[in-house]
Order: sequence, then structure tokens, then C-alpha cells
Amino acid sequence: MKRAKDLLVEAVETLLAARDNTAQLDAEVLMMYLQGYGRAQLYARLDEPINDETAASFRELVARRAQGEPVAYITSHREFMALDFYVDRRVLIPRPETELLLEYTVNKLRDKGWTEEEFPLVDVGTGSGVIAVYLALRFPRAKVYATDISTEALEVAKLNARRFEVEERINFLQGNLLEPLPEPVKILVSNPPYTILAQVEPNVARYEPNIALDGGPKGLAIYRELLRQAQTRLVRPGLIALEIGSEQANDVANLGRFFFPGCQIDVFKDYAGLDRVVILDIGEEPHNLP
Ligand SMILES: C[S@@+](CC[C@H](N)C(=O)[O-])C[C@H]1O[C@@H](n2cnc3c(N)ncnc32)[C@H](O)[C@@H]1O
Repeated sequence: MKRAKDLLVEAVETLLAARDNTAQLDAEVLMMYLQGYGRAQLYARLDEPINDETAASFRELVARRAQGEPVAYITSHREFMALDFYVDRRVLIPRPETELLLEYTVNKLRDKGWTEEEFPLVDVGTGSGVIAVYLALRFPRAKVYATDISTEALEVAKLNARRFEVEERINFLQGNLLEPLPEPVKILVSNPPYTILAQVEPNVARYEPNIALDGGPKGLAIYRELLRQAQTRLVRPGLIALEIGSEQANDVANLGRFFFPGCQIDVFKDYAGLDRVVILDIGEEPHNLP
């Protein structure tokens, strides 16, 4: 029988050969998942023998990873804002950039001093529900809507809402962007599809839902439609917080100016100095719609 550490060495070799640049981490996560261990337990039990059946199961998981399947889909877990979310192939795997979107949004809301009761908020394109669930937990008195065009994604989002006991707090709606909303909202938060599909990393395009990625020929189609719809579905003063691709700040800011002339626009960067979030602070006065 092999020891856990022998299987890990073998897995890392397999994953490195498959050009997995997080081979060590992935091998450890897969072993922890299979054995139901935490990290401390994994390291404490490296010398223990692993029976043949478990070793075969581990090799199967490693083979899936070597084919390019994301670890989060293999284990059905993704940590986001220190919360453990369920994910599967019906939804995009939440990314660290989206944690920044939430941090900047929460800071901005704190600066505004709006009370929670005041703000119906919406997470547009909720996917796994990470944004809606986090905001429902963070603002326990706020009314929260979450929309998605994908009924499959909404099933996953509802599952996560149940997991964190906020299913009664979030109104999940299927449909195109803001169209299903029953009332205007004051705060709109979204990580919409914003990539040009042909430019997406092959394994991402192969495993993750294309509807979650495809922002049209220039990556801007969903922003344009979302901001157009927001003109008539946003309470003033209101706020729109959007995750963006690193090259999209100018284009999204211009769309913001077009649909909301006079709005204040802030662009925020990630830790690598790349533009990642645009927040439109929309003032009191309605304007003539373009
Ligand atoms: C980039 S994913 C974001 C998922 C999740 N909010 C997150 O940050 O991890 C975009 C989501 O928008 C949804 N979507 C795409 N087109 C849409 C549309 N026209 N109306 C509503 N949702 C849409 C997709 O199904 C997907 O769940």
C-alpha cells in the first residue's frame, strides 16, 4: 500500500506533466476532499498507508484535473469571502476579482450612509449566488433581488441561499437582466458576462457555462443593455457597481456617462494594479433618456 505522501508526489508529477501550474496545491486539495481532511490533518497523516480503493479514487480525481477540469467542479466547493459555496458546472466558479467588487461596493455604501431599509438591491446575473448571499448576510435588513437568465444557475444560487439560511431574504427571478424586477432598486451590483468568448482560456470556455462568459463581440454587450435597462429601474439617488475586464474601464465609464449623464464614476484596481471595478454614483435628478 502507498502512503498519502507517495500518492501526492505521484499526483504532482501527473499534474505538472499536464501543465497545471498549481499542481501541488491541487493535489493536496483533492486528497483533503477525498479523505475529508483539513490541511492540518493532511500534513499530520502523510505517512499513513492509503488502501488500494482510495488510491484508485484519488488517481481518478487527479486524472480529471489533468484533463483540465477545475478543482472547484471536482470538489463542488469554492471559498468566497471566507464562505464555503457549493458550485457545479451549471455556474461560473466565483473569482477573487468578485470579492473586490463586493469590498468596494460595501465601502461605498458605508460612505453613502444609506440605511439598509432604504435599499432594495439587485445582484444581476447571480450565477452561484455569491454576491446576493454575501450582501444578504452583510445587510440583514435589506431587500435583496437576484436575477439570472439561466434557470439552472438559479437552482444553484437557491441551494447556496439555503446553505447560508438567507433563502427567505433573497427574491430569485429568472429573466433578462433587470426585466424580471417587480420594483425599481437603489443598488445594482453585477459581475456580468464580459469576455470575448474566442479569447477565453480554452479550459475555462470548455468547462464553465458560456452564457456566463460571453459578453458579445467586444465584451460590452451586456453592460450596454444593463445600463440601458437601469435608466428606468433605478431609484435615484442610486448606485451601480460593476465588475469589469481589465481593459474595459474606459468603455464602461463611457457607457455610464451616456446612459447616466452627470453621474460620478470611480474605477478601482485589483492588487496587480489592473482595473477591475467601476462604480457609478447616480445623483438625485432624473435626466432625459437617450
Ligand atoms: C460572470 S457570471 C457571474 C456569476 C456570479 N455572479 C459570480 O460573480 O460568480 C454571469 C452570470 O450572468 C448570467 N447571465 C448571462 N446573460 C444574462 C442576462 N441577459 N440576464 C440575466 N443573467 C444573465 C449568466 O447565466 C451567469 O450566471
